[in-house]
Amino acid sequence: MASSMALACYIVVLISMLGLRGAEAQRAFFVFGDSLVDNGNNNYLATTARADSPPYGIDYPTGRATGRFSNGLNIPDFISQAIGASESTLPYLDPELNGERLLVGANFASAGIGILNDTGIQFVNIIRIYRQLQYWEEYQQRVSAIIGPEETQSLIEGALVLITLGGNDFVNNYYLVPYSARSRQYNLPDYVKYIISEYKKVLRRLYEIGARRVLVTGTGPLGCVPAELAQRSANGECSAELQRAAALFNPQLVQIIRELNSEIGSDVFVAVNTQQMHVDFISNPQRYGFVTSKVACCGQGRYNGIGLCTVASNLCPDRRVYAFWDPFHPSERANGLIVQQILSGTSDYMYPMNLSTILAMDSKKN
Ligand SMILES: *[C@@H]1O[C@H](CO)[C@@H](O)[C@H](O)[C@H]1NC(C)=O
Ligand SMILES: *[C@@H]1O[C@H](CO)[C@@H](O)[C@H](O)[C@H]1NC(C)=O
Repeated sequence: MASSMALACYIVVLISMLGLRGAEAQRAFFVFGDSLVDNGNNNYLATTARADSPPYGIDYPTGRATGRFSNGLNIPDFISQAIGASESTLPYLDPELNGERLLVGANFASAGIGILNDTGIQFVNIIRIYRQLQYWEEYQQRVSAIIGPEETQSLIEGALVLITLGGNDFVNNYYLVPYSARSRQYNLPDYVKYIISEYKKVLRRLYEIGARRVLVTGTGPLGCVPAELAQRSANGECSAELQRAAALFNPQLVQIIRELNSEIGSDVFVAVNTQQMHVDFISNPQRYGFVTSKVACCGQGRYNGIGLCTVASNLCPDRRVYAFWDPFHPSERANGLIVQQILSGTSDYMYPMNLSTILAMDSKKN
């Protein structure tokens, strides 16, 4: 791994030396999904699903909580860096997202949402996925008023898109204790089939409104996050039930990505195997410089996995040695490792290709 990480760094340096980063600097970036990728939209909403107070953001460049569910940077931030963007995308609801800054892209993600409209209802005011897509259409109209419709179309079609959905359809819907409506309605395999068929509609819609390069993340190992270990694990083993959910969901997601790409006749959608990326550091945390992948840095109770990360929680002194920042979300360093794999992972991690291949291919088109 050390050598493949070194290789990944080398490739990044090489790409920037070749000037591809310069050519890519104009590429816009759009983000859709849940708390794994929310950059702060929920700060502007009346909801309990938020990360806008300390110690969130303790390692962010400003040292302040931004709404990112991380001690510092999150996955979209590292992707912005990887594509050579001048800055991270702002949350769509941020009043500073105006004028020229719109051309960098925008982040529409909202913590707590899922594929289904009834996921995360307990968080009340969150931006569900179809609303995020509507906002993207509204965004396109705003940009069109600045640079005209043709330039807008090329900005949209030349953009990189990231969508992260699905985890909440399990942890904040199907598996809500004691008994959720969805778990009474469906057994697990049928529920997964249902949400996958709904996800396919979302992805198709994303394509219809202009997306041409879309990174689609699978769910992580849902049963191994500190929150689930705290609630469901006797001796620190991952929850078999939630692992079964992830094991059903992820391959079917790859399957619909195959189907959509073949319908479209182009590799618009790219599957990101976040499951495998997490499993790597869950099965051997030391190899990645983590002392633990079971205990969250910020939290309380067993595995620091109970309740929320707040100013009253336990807080680990060295955030760099924890794979999980809070009971559900990776630490900044884990996010960086995930994006290294997105950038240069093999086909086990990125199907049908990785981000550096995408960047190299798309730069030739211009
Ligand atoms: C979710 O809501 C959107 C927009 O309100 C609607 O178009 C869609 O059909 C709904 N999905 C389901 C599964 O009900
Ligand atoms: C992924 O990225 C690296 C760097 O561009 C490349 O060498 C590698 O072949 C790519 N693809 C796969 C499938 O490994």
